[in-house]
Amino acid sequence: MRTGKKILLAGSTGYLGGYIARQLIQDDIDTRAIVRNLKKVDFDVNFVEVAKAEVTRPETLTGLFSDIDTVISTIGITRQKDGLTYMDVDFMGNVNLLDEAMANGVRKFIYVSVLNGEKLRNLKICDAKEKFVDYLKNSGMDYCIIRPNGFFSDMGDFLEMARGGRVYLFGDGTLKLNPIHGADLAKVCVEAIQSSEKEINVGGPDILSQNEIAELALKACSKKIRIVHLPDWIRKLTLWLVRTFTSQKTYGPVEFFLTTMVMDMVAPPYGINKLEDYFNGKPEKKQHEKKV
Ligand SMILES: NC(=O)c1ccc[n+]([C@@H]2O[C@H](COP(=O)([O-])OP(=O)(O)OC[C@H]3O[C@@H](n4cnc5c(N)ncnc54)[C@H](OP(=O)(O)O)[C@@H]3O)[C@@H](O)[C@H]2O)c1
Repeated sequence: MRTGKKILLAGSTGYLGGYIARQLIQDDIDTRAIVRNLKKVDFDVNFVEVAKAEVTRPETLTGLFSDIDTVISTIGITRQKDGLTYMDVDFMGNVNLLDEAMANGVRKFIYVSVLNGEKLRNLKICDAKEKFVDYLKNSGMDYCIIRPNGFFSDMGDFLEMARGGRVYLFGDGTLKLNPIHGADLAKVCVEAIQSSEKEINVGGPDILSQNEIAELALKACSKKIRIVHLPDWIRKLTLWLVRTFTSQKTYGPVEFFLTTMVMDMVAPPYGINKLEDYFNGKPEKKQHEKKV
């Protein structure tokens, strides 16, 4: 797909952003990636222009948007410990990108939020993301909001527990989710450049119960199936303790994890990469055809 127009990618040093950069290269799309740390770049810089910028400092964005058709942003705090809040990065960092894009006549803004984000505004991370979604929807710019399920990279906690021989779950483990591989999600993000869809909920191809994911992780570690089902009061107590006694940067990811663990998190299935293969360390499969 050659659009003849340039994409500005923000977040390319992260898990999903790296896959998007490689997908843009594969599709031969002219791209500028803005990064704050050049050492973290993990794609072929012969095919992507890389510019240093810091989304939380709008003055560093000047001059980078004048030739841009579409912005793709995966900017957000996941495990970073910069001392910044979700409002600083997930909200204001993306507002800075959008303001600069608006000032330069950019056509479209593609933003990666999170599945069910609009229903989970009581969580700090979702509140900041959805505030930006509101800002984007009211901006007058064409947009696409992608709401993905958990990434394979975030299923590592199951593997960590499995290595120790036991996986701990809250409740009976029958709640379902369909996590997605970064490579499959990257394809959705890149296809959004030309699609007219405004909001896309998306998950991986396999809808699995938490018990099934625990079993896959234990098998990948060659361990016996040992799953411990913890009562819900432990989860509620942990949630209260982290909210009361730790700062937002500590409790933010924990409250998201502990809240979504007791919800069915199922999105329309997409993609070809299986969690079982990821747990077993197999390389990802690449899609060559448009499937959305
Ligand atoms: N992981 C999941 O399961 C999941 C599920 C649904 C949605 N999401 C959302 O999808 C997005 C991408 O997730 P991911 O797993 O790819 O995250 P990631 O690997 O942490 O990448 C996030 C990107 O945002 C940048 N960033 C973070 N804090 C920044 C700051 N203070 N200033 C400038 N840049 C900053 C990072 O830059 P550095 O590399 O320099 O830190 C990185 O490029 C996130 O918004 C996340 O909340 C994630």
